[in-house]
Amino acid sequence: MRDQQEFKPTPKNWKLVLGIPMLLAALVFPAAASWAVTTGTSPAEVSSGDVPRSTSEVERTTTDVPRIPLYDIDSAKSLQVVVNKKRPLNPVEYFPRGKVQIGYSWLAKPAADAYVLLKAAVSKAKLGTLCINSGYRSFGSQTLIHDAKVALLGKTAGEKLAARPGYSEHQTGLAMDISTTQLGCRIGAFGASRASVWIAANAWQYGFVVRYPNGKTPITGYVWEPWHLRFVGLELAADMKAKKIATLEEYFALPAAPKY
Ligand code: DAL
Ligand code: ZN
Repeated sequence: MRDQQEFKPTPKNWKLVLGIPMLLAALVFPAAASWAVTTGTSPAEVSSGDVPRSTSEVERTTTDVPRIPLYDIDSAKSLQVVVNKKRPLNPVEYFPRGKVQIGYSWLAKPAADAYVLLKAAVSKAKLGTLCINSGYRSFGSQTLIHDAKVALLGKTAGEKLAARPGYSEHQTGLAMDISTTQLGCRIGAFGASRASVWIAANAWQYGFVVRYPNGKTPITGYVWEPWHLRFVGLELAADMKAKKIATLEEYFALPAAPKY
């Protein structure tokens, strides 16, 4: 039996112990070595999906590029979906899941939660008791509303107030027409109320935008609807407010949607 000689690392031979494998590794995996130097991390800390293609790309993504939120404006279930006369829901008979009931109306849960906070704020400001005149609408109920408006006002004027089925934000569960109980929950009188002025200035704090502002008909395709709120989430609503951009079309640099 051979004597087992115990290896005792000394300051001198530690350099050999660490240095030789590192040298070999750098020769075999030069890209990995440069990655570790550039980022201060080991390749094992980076998931395969995130591995950058080049060192310069690493430097750009980690230091220089401002963090711009990316929103999904195309999926019907996205909180930031943009629906207008040029952008129907996909599928047109989209049916949102997870709705909750508020009074007589139904809303998608995130919109419902935000509405409860908005209503409390309006009450606290002593501007009345908010109510929902119309929340989620199915493809079928939007058909009835659209057809009734067109029958009453004609196609051009009717379609500036009511969307065709498959083209309404109401079908996402993220839009609601609001008023106050003091106004009998009628939307027609809401624009002249103090609550409406407050909503236009403050709804963003709860993640809502007044989706069809005054003077934006050539862009949105709809007349001023001070009662129609659309939940888009706090981050986007706050950014639109900060940038003074009133419509989703302008914010996302989308084509104007005055007609189908
Ligand atoms: N009133 C809005 C435009 C709708 O019908 O969806
Ligand atoms: Zn509406």
